[in-house]
Amino acid sequence: MQEANNATSATPVPGWYGADPFATDLKPNPHGYYRELRERQPVNLTPMGEWRLSRYADIQRLLKHSDVGVRDTSGIIPGETAEDSAGSKFILRLDPPDHDRIRNLVNKAFTPRALDAIRPAIEPLVRGEMERIAGQGEMDVVADLALVVPAASMCAMLGVPFEDRHYLSELVSLVTYRLAISAYPHLREKSEAAIMELAGYLVTLLEERRRNPGDDILSQLVTAEEHGDKLDNDELLQQSIGLLVAGLETTIGLIANGMVCFSRYPEQFERLAANPALAATAVEECLRFEPSVPVTRRILWRDTPFGDYTIPANAVVYAILIGANRDPDMFTNPDTFDIARNEAKHCSFGGGIHFCLGSHLARMNAQIAFTEMASRFTDFVADESRREWAPSLFRIPGSIPATFRLRH
Ligand code: HEM
Repeated sequence: MQEANNATSATPVPGWYGADPFATDLKPNPHGYYRELRERQPVNLTPMGEWRLSRYADIQRLLKHSDVGVRDTSGIIPGETAEDSAGSKFILRLDPPDHDRIRNLVNKAFTPRALDAIRPAIEPLVRGEMERIAGQGEMDVVADLALVVPAASMCAMLGVPFEDRHYLSELVSLVTYRLAISAYPHLREKSEAAIMELAGYLVTLLEERRRNPGDDILSQLVTAEEHGDKLDNDELLQQSIGLLVAGLETTIGLIANGMVCFSRYPEQFERLAANPALAATAVEECLRFEPSVPVTRRILWRDTPFGDYTIPANAVVYAILIGANRDPDMFTNPDTFDIARNEAKHCSFGGGIHFCLGSHLARMNAQIAFTEMASRFTDFVADESRREWAPSLFRIPGSIPATFRLRH
């Protein structure tokens, strides 16, 4: 570690510094590993030649105030071919000016009116599910809650009947697993078939919405226009698929991981039940404490100093969002779960021009889920020993058995 105190041209000693994704299952309890990384080498060079930042301040600077993109300086997405990169149009995979043009148009679809219409559509459905399980005293946190809310809002977003939600959420989950296919090769075939099927489903729907637009987000996307500019068919299809993929699993993770927090800290669950006005800060604390998306990444476009080192242009830099969320320089007692915490913003939605476009929708979904649960049930216990993880790149539970009692 002697290099750590030298000039900025020095290179750190490569290593995993406690957070080795190949040796450790970083999903169940990652915080100790990332604390070690942040303390031992906050500007980390991995043995694979990629960089990792785990301090809050460095991550904010990377995402908001550095010359970076999601592609390298020749416009290629690292790890992909030039041809695949050229065909890739989802905003999270684009740099300006293409990114900004498409994001502006997509933003037009996420109108307050379109979002407001979703809440009353999904609340009764969630209540129905809660009433269904109320008498049982046990549930699966994912199947009975965490999946129900985003699956329903996905249908509302597309303007399709709620009956389609099981079919659609299975399809979207399979498509999402493609992101982690090297870790789950047995899913490759199913997942390839799912992307074709989802594309076919959405092409038909987009044609329908073009002929007969409604109030839903998909219709807004089809009609979105700025200065005569609109999304072309390919751009539309890629945003539609991307939005479903970006929104379903991540929200399942927020709700399921959040309910695990409420099980570990029952006094916080009771606090929410007694004061439902805490729902908004409770969601932020769940996002900070157990984020479903632990990292995001950027490619530097010029040599940039971070800490004691200069990271070279075209280096792949991972922002360890989950580590930044527990940086003691930013959060008092970062390992304490406090649903009324009112401090710095967590990093779980990323930052800069790619800041999560669905953050309002995700927050609304989680508020509905937590409020419904806390108002009805008490003594909620999630059995973490029987938690299964979905075959996802992210921290998304596939199943968590839990028990509860009726509150009244
Ligand atoms: C708890 C749920 C969610 C989490 C934790 C989450 C997290 C993230 C993160 C970390 C990024 C990358 C930001 C960056 O690299 O700076 C992102 C981008 C994005 N998210 Fe989310 N997300 C969630 C829900 C949603 C939902 C519900 C939608 C839409 C339906 C959505 C749509 C997007 C889009 C479109 C982007 C790309 C934005 C851009 O590149 O400009 N997300 N999200």
